[in-house]
Order: sequence, then C-alpha cells, then structure tokens
Amino acid sequence: MTLPPSPSTPPLVQMLQWIARPMALMEDYTRRYGDCFTLPVGRNFGSVVFVSHPQAMQEILSDSKHWEAPGEFNEIFAPILGKHSVITVSGARHQRQRQLLMPPFHGERMRAYSQLIEKVTEQVMSQWRQDEPFCVRSSTQAIALRVILKAVFGLDEGPRGQQLEHLLAALLDETSSPFSAGILYFPILQRDLGPLTPWGNFLRRQRETDKLIYEEIQERREHPDPTRTDILSLLMAAQDEAGESMTDVELHDELMTLLVAGHETTATALAWALYWIHKLPSVRERLLEELDSLGDDPDPNTIFRLPYLSAVCAETLRIYPVAMLTFPRVVKVPLSLMGYDLKPGTVVIGSIYLTHRREDLYPEPEQFKPERFLERQFSAYEYLPFGGGSRRCIGLAFAQFEMKVVLAKILSRVQLKLADNREVRPTRRGLVTAPDSSIRLVMMGQRQEKMPVSQTVASVG
Ligand code: HEM
Repeated sequence: MTLPPSPSTPPLVQMLQWIARPMALMEDYTRRYGDCFTLPVGRNFGSVVFVSHPQAMQEILSDSKHWEAPGEFNEIFAPILGKHSVITVSGARHQRQRQLLMPPFHGERMRAYSQLIEKVTEQVMSQWRQDEPFCVRSSTQAIALRVILKAVFGLDEGPRGQQLEHLLAALLDETSSPFSAGILYFPILQRDLGPLTPWGNFLRRQRETDKLIYEEIQERREHPDPTRTDILSLLMAAQDEAGESMTDVELHDELMTLLVAGHETTATALAWALYWIHKLPSVRERLLEELDSLGDDPDPNTIFRLPYLSAVCAETLRIYPVAMLTFPRVVKVPLSLMGYDLKPGTVVIGSIYLTHRREDLYPEPEQFKPERFLERQFSAYEYLPFGGGSRRCIGLAFAQFEMKVVLAKILSRVQLKLADNREVRPTRRGLVTAPDSSIRLVMMGQRQEKMPVSQTVASVG
C-alpha cells in the first residue's frame, strides 16, 4: 500500500496548522503534492488522505460497494450533537434516520416555510437603523436560527424559543475559535475546569440547552397533539421495524443536529452572499434587475427558479464553501484511487474547498463570477457544496430555498452598502468556515421599486 505523499513535518505541528489555518494548509499541500496528499488529522493523529479531483470525488462518494461512510469517524461532532445523531450513527440505522428526516426538507413541505422565512427576515430587518452599521452574520444567524427552530419545534416566539435561540447562538460561538476547535480535535482536553474556561463554559451552556430541549420533549409526551406537523412531532410518531419509538436521548441528538447543521451553515452562506452582492456593483445591479422584473409580491417558487439569483447563490457556495470537507469515507476492500493502492480501513476525505478552486474547472477561481453557472453545467462531483452520496446534506434544498427567499426579501426592500472596503477572507469557525472578520453593512434607506438600478447602487467605501 502506498499512501499519497505527506511532508516530514511532525504530526503535532501539522495538526496545529490544520486547526489554525486549514484552507492555507490544503492549498499549500496541493501546490507541493498535487491532487492527493495525506494529513495526520484523524483520530490519534491517524492518516487521512485528502482528494479533490472530480473523479476521486465520484469514486469515494458514489461507490457504496467499495466505500462506506461510518458515523464513528464523525465522532468529533459528538460532543456537540451527541452519539445518536444521524451524523454519528452508521449503516442501517443511519439510512433509517435519513429517511425519517428528509421529507420535511423537500418539495411542498419545504415551500410551506416561505411565509415563515419572509416574516422572520422582516423581523430582523426591522432592527436595522438607517446609517448605522450592523454585523451581517449576526442578522443572518438570527434569521436562520429562528427559521429552523420553527421548522423543528413549531416554536419561534415564546420564552422557550427565545431562550433556545440565545443559548444555541452562544453555544456555537463557544466552539468557534481555533482554540476551541482544537479542543474538539483533542478529546483529552475536553475537561470541565470551571465556568471561566472555554470548555467549562461550553458544558454549562450545553446543560442549559439540553434542559430546554428535554422540557419540550416531555411536554409533547404529556400533551400529544396529532395536528402538529413540525419535525419533532414527526420524529416522536416514528417507529422502527420492531415498533420501537425513539428515546428522549435519541430525539434530543437528532434535534440538536438539525438545529446546529440547519442554521450555522446557512447563516454564513447568506452573510457571504450579501458581502459579494454589495462588494460588486455589477452583481447587485443585475440581481436587482432580475428581482424587479417579478413585480410585487412574487411567488416563492418563481424566486427559487430565478437564473441569476441561483447563480449568485451557487457562486457564493463555490468560492468559500461553508463546509470545507465531506465527512470521511473509508475503504471497504483493497482498491486503487488516483493511482494509489489503498487497503481496507484507509480514511479518505473529499476537500470541497480544493475542488471548488480548481483552475481547470473554475478559471480565475479567486474571482466571484456568478456567470460561470449560467455558462456551463457542473457535474455533481465538480461542484459539491453539500457533499454527495449516502451522507449528502439533507438540508440542501431547504438551505438553497432559504437563501433565495431571504436575499430576495432584503434586496427588494432596502438599500444597503458595505460599511468599509476591507477584504474579508474565510477562516475556520469550529468545524466549518466563516468570514475572518465582521462583515458590516449600512442601511441607506428603503428601496423605491422601479427606480433605475444605477441610481441605487452604493459606492463601496
Ligand atoms: C448552506 C448551507 C449548508 C451547507 C453548505 C451544508 C453542507 C453539508 C455537507 C458538505 C455535508 C456533508 C455531506 C457529505 O459528507 O457528503 C452536510 C451534511 C448534513 N447536513 Fe448540511 N449543509 C447546509 C445546510 C443544512 C441544513 C439547512 C440542514 C438541516 C436542516 C443540514 C443538515 C445536514 C445533515 C443532517 C447532514 C448529515 C447527513 C448524514 O450524515 O447523512 N444542512 N451538509
């Protein structure tokens, strides 16, 4: 067996580099070694092969005869999500949980959330004050969190919903710095050394969050309401082949998964989209022309299909993918991947970040160019912000729908401009990515519809 190359740097140093600046490290290794390389970032510094070529992506994600995607390899998520999450379980149990969770995030069920998304966006926009800069990610986080809370629990207002919103935001902030992310990579550091330490603080917030979630589950068990259509009700009604229902702990872990996976990523994607739209006047101009052509109160399905808005969202998720990586895939039988003979048990990760920066697919990959998505179609292994195969994101359609409805609402209602002209770059935020500094926008006023777009384009600076 020959693993793809790896430098002779000590594993601990590589691990620390991986935690502090993962994207720069992946780019550096690609320059040195090409399409495949090995990093010691697995359990106990275990070797992980990184791939980015579309052909390798296709093999690891779509060939379930030779590859598997075991939940145990996602145990880094367990301290936040639990051991019974769809992300941390494997095999038949994983498939069953996916089947249970997918329907509410698709088709008509999903579209039914459009009014909610619009309402929540309006609530958040009403807090913006004219000429006062605001942090975009805080606003998009509030939108995405309220939307997912409502979808999952059927609650957004009322004290429990508000407390959960506040606690979840704080809990994720707690794990966002590279230092805290480092603790996730080194389980030995996961010790409660008091409320003044990051992990101690995280555990306390987690206990408060858990208490609220268990209270909600308890209340539902005591007062079942068959008319409810939220996801918690759906999970509580589900039974496995043996007629067993989910336990409270299983329900809790699944809810946490949806709450966390369902808002962190979308919030960041929306913040980046607003950044690019206001950084590049030509993008904003073209988008406004498209949105204005719809007239008042457009149907959400029409918004969802708008070509340029779709291209802007796609390019946002290409240039700085919120999830840098797919979950690990593991070799089942001896096989050859991109010229390397791999033995069973070898762990391989798809670098979505690197695939999206390939010059051969995306000329001038550093440039934000939505037109790429109008000019050509990319395969599911050339463009994959939501991964693929057996662990492909279950919120894919929901997230894209939410992004478009929120952007359409904001852009057609208010005029915004960037508060300053700084370059913002992606950085690690916990186990995903986010802007490295606060993106701030200023509201200049309401948008008068049908005003020539050129008069409303804000100058940057
Ligand atoms: C822009 C937003 C989002 C991005 C970029 C994103 C990206 C991803 C990626 C890359 C994966 C791993 C796929 C793989 O390994 O093949 C994933 C998995 C997952 N995502 Fe998302 N996601 C987003 C939004 C959401 C939303 C809104 C939800 C829930 C409502 C969600 C729930 C999940 C779950 C549960 C999994 C695990 C699936 C499994 O293990 O079977 N995600 N997502």
